[in-house]
Amino acid sequence: MAEKIIVMTGGTSGFGAITSKKLLQEPGTHLILGNRNKRIEGAEHLPLNLKSVRSVKEFSSAVISTIENKKIDVLICNAGISIPTVDTKTEDGFETTFAVNHLAHFLLIDLLKQNLADTTKIILTTSGTHNPDEGSRVAPPKHANIYWLAYPEKDETLDEKDKINAERAYASSKLCNLLTARYINTLTGNWEGIAYDPGPTPGTGLTQNLGIVRRILWKLFSISFLRKRVFPKSNSIEDAGKALADIALGKISIPAGKEYAALRAGKMTFPLPSELAQKDEVMEKVWNDSKEILNL
Ligand SMILES: NC(=O)c1ccc[n+]([C@@H]2O[C@H](COP(=O)([O-])OP(=O)(O)OC[C@H]3O[C@@H](n4cnc5c(N)ncnc54)[C@H](OP(=O)(O)O)[C@@H]3O)[C@@H](O)[C@H]2O)c1
Repeated sequence: MAEKIIVMTGGTSGFGAITSKKLLQEPGTHLILGNRNKRIEGAEHLPLNLKSVRSVKEFSSAVISTIENKKIDVLICNAGISIPTVDTKTEDGFETTFAVNHLAHFLLIDLLKQNLADTTKIILTTSGTHNPDEGSRVAPPKHANIYWLAYPEKDETLDEKDKINAERAYASSKLCNLLTARYINTLTGNWEGIAYDPGPTPGTGLTQNLGIVRRILWKLFSISFLRKRVFPKSNSIEDAGKALADIALGKISIPAGKEYAALRAGKMTFPLPSELAQKDEVMEKVWNDSKEILNL
């Protein structure tokens, strides 16, 4: 049986850990996880810290030497963070949430592009928070200006409250993930860009850097009947992880002309993304400015 090479970030905890285990159940899967200190039995682990451009470069070089001359069949960019401020910077000088969630993944895709198969699926995990019409409790994006998001001190739309800015930083990074997936589908060749939105999935580690009240509520809402009552469109960690694996393995296919796959109450849906996410000029600018800011 031919080996299927899958490279994934964010596959060692949260619903991504479920995805990893489901992928490993498929015979012939060679799963390479970018990891910090956690591990999934059966996967190959290569060190990755998305807060550092240097680490992303080292990870991609390690992936390339591990796979030798073989090609990557699926690239899953699932790692993500949510922090309570836009005041912290990475060693490269970028705002941390935006650097981890968008810039690092953008860089990773660019660095691995020569090593992708002709039909590689490139999956980026986005979020319903990118869309103001979703009515999420998180402040939605005001724009997708790469320079303002990377350097919030330049952002003319910044709110007085850091909490709002931090929520916007998260939602905007997820908007950029979605726009990146869209742009991939405009490139010549057969790569498939997919933006996967797991819907609200309480109980994961996503709130670990937020205040204690949000952390406790997030754990509490993972209890099924509470979750369904508070977030009717939400998903269990198991369902969110399985759906991502099903997309990666082609068990769920994305309808032609679509790239946004949103899991809502356990069912995969393919809605239009937000108005901003549908604008081609915004998509092109996000792509070009991301390349520019990363010197690609
Ligand atoms: N849960 C939700 O309601 C929800 C909704 C919409 C979208 N999402 C998105 O879904 C994805 C997975 O989130 P989750 O809810 O499963 O959260 P999670 O449990 O916190 O998982 C996040 C993953 O990202 C990895 N990660 C974080 N910072 C990293 C860094 N600097 N370098 C390398 N890896 C790093 C973590 O690695 P470790 O294993 O080492 O901790 C972990 O595997 C994220 O992109 C999130 O934005 C989640």
